[in-house]
Amino acid sequence: MTATDAAAVIHNDLRRPAARPLARRAASFGPSPWEAVIRLLDRHPDMIFFGNGAPAMELMPVARLQEAAARVWADAPGHLGYGDVAGFAPLRELIAARMATQGIVAHPDSLLLTNGSQQGIDLIARLVLDPGDIVLVEAPTYLGALQVFDAFEATYLTVPTDGDGLRVDALEQALAGSSRPPKLLYTVPTFQNPTGSTMPRARREALLEVARAHGILVVEDDPYGELRYDGQAEPALRALDPDVIYLGTFSKTIAPGLRVGWLAAPPDLVTPLLTAREAGDIHNERMTARIVYHAASDFLDDHLVGARAVYRRRRDALLEGLTDHLPLGARWTEPGGGFFVWVELPEGLSADGLLPHAAGHGVVYLPGSWFYPDSRERDSLRLSFSTLSEATITEGTRRLGRAVMEGLAERG
Ligand SMILES: Cc1ncc(COP(=O)(O)O)c(C=O)c1O
Repeated sequence: MTATDAAAVIHNDLRRPAARPLARRAASFGPSPWEAVIRLLDRHPDMIFFGNGAPAMELMPVARLQEAAARVWADAPGHLGYGDVAGFAPLRELIAARMATQGIVAHPDSLLLTNGSQQGIDLIARLVLDPGDIVLVEAPTYLGALQVFDAFEATYLTVPTDGDGLRVDALEQALAGSSRPPKLLYTVPTFQNPTGSTMPRARREALLEVARAHGILVVEDDPYGELRYDGQAEPALRALDPDVIYLGTFSKTIAPGLRVGWLAAPPDLVTPLLTAREAGDIHNERMTARIVYHAASDFLDDHLVGARAVYRRRRDALLEGLTDHLPLGARWTEPGGGFFVWVELPEGLSADGLLPHAAGHGVVYLPGSWFYPDSRERDSLRLSFSTLSEATITEGTRRLGRAVMEGLAERG
């Protein structure tokens, strides 16, 4: 057997469901939906990929991070042992001060550094969910949160969204029709992933009122709030109600590979979250937390001014390209920040069905079905503009337009 044959056998074995007794929750650990996309991109490097919800590589402040790292390593021996489970205290103090400028009151002792907000979602689920418990989510919602809730065998109550985010009228209807009260409400109220929409203040207040009336713990995931390109900031849910759990991250503002985020919890949840964290991976990587501390105190705000200007131009290029190239009947959101635009195709077109046509024209997006708990085919899709140049975005919309026309011709 050649090395290539052996690799193929291993690859196939990796994809086969494990033939041994595993926990019931392992049923949710099938192959990642990203796998097929990554293989497609590997085979076609000139494909325009609108799926990458990451910051642009060329914007990452590498030289300044290197300088920060050199400073941290100069003091290395002190930081190479085990440390505080909550994470580097000066970074927590800095985060608390940054949040205070957005009206969010959080004592540094109620903050916990996490390996990205993804770990924050996992810790909350670990703490709150028993199998079968109900989680309220926006529909559509962030795929990675669904992966966590699936692993904890949650049941979903979905609440539809519109251009202003989660529909509170529909939330009340969903609650009235539910046999049991939900334990959690997970929301991305600002520049949502995947729709890009932002909930206005009045809706935020109404949502919190409903959650309080039903005793539902609200989790606000806010990776994109600092990436606003126009308009006024809406208050964070956590700024309106200190009982909300707030998740923040440096993944979109500095670099996701650093894996530094944070969680601000109500006081009674701090100890159980810390103990859950200790049981999982003990604490954040101590050197990186210090590098991020230097980044956040020395140059983050400066860096964000430049990054926002680039992303704003990319968003504009995408909106302009969609206007120029998508046929009548297609609709899309116009986000004031973040990385995503949500497109609804003309009636009768499935975004899943259209994907092979789009790939044939050299463009790939994430179908809307990825972002709903039931994964049903839908007419919607997510386009991310953060990692593509304006020229590539324009060309990508031209290709997408051709694919949609082809889909429409086939539909008849
Ligand atoms: C809404 C949302 N939450 C959480 C994450 C995960 O971010 P992190 O890298 O901080 O774990 C993402 C990343 O795409 C996201 O869009």
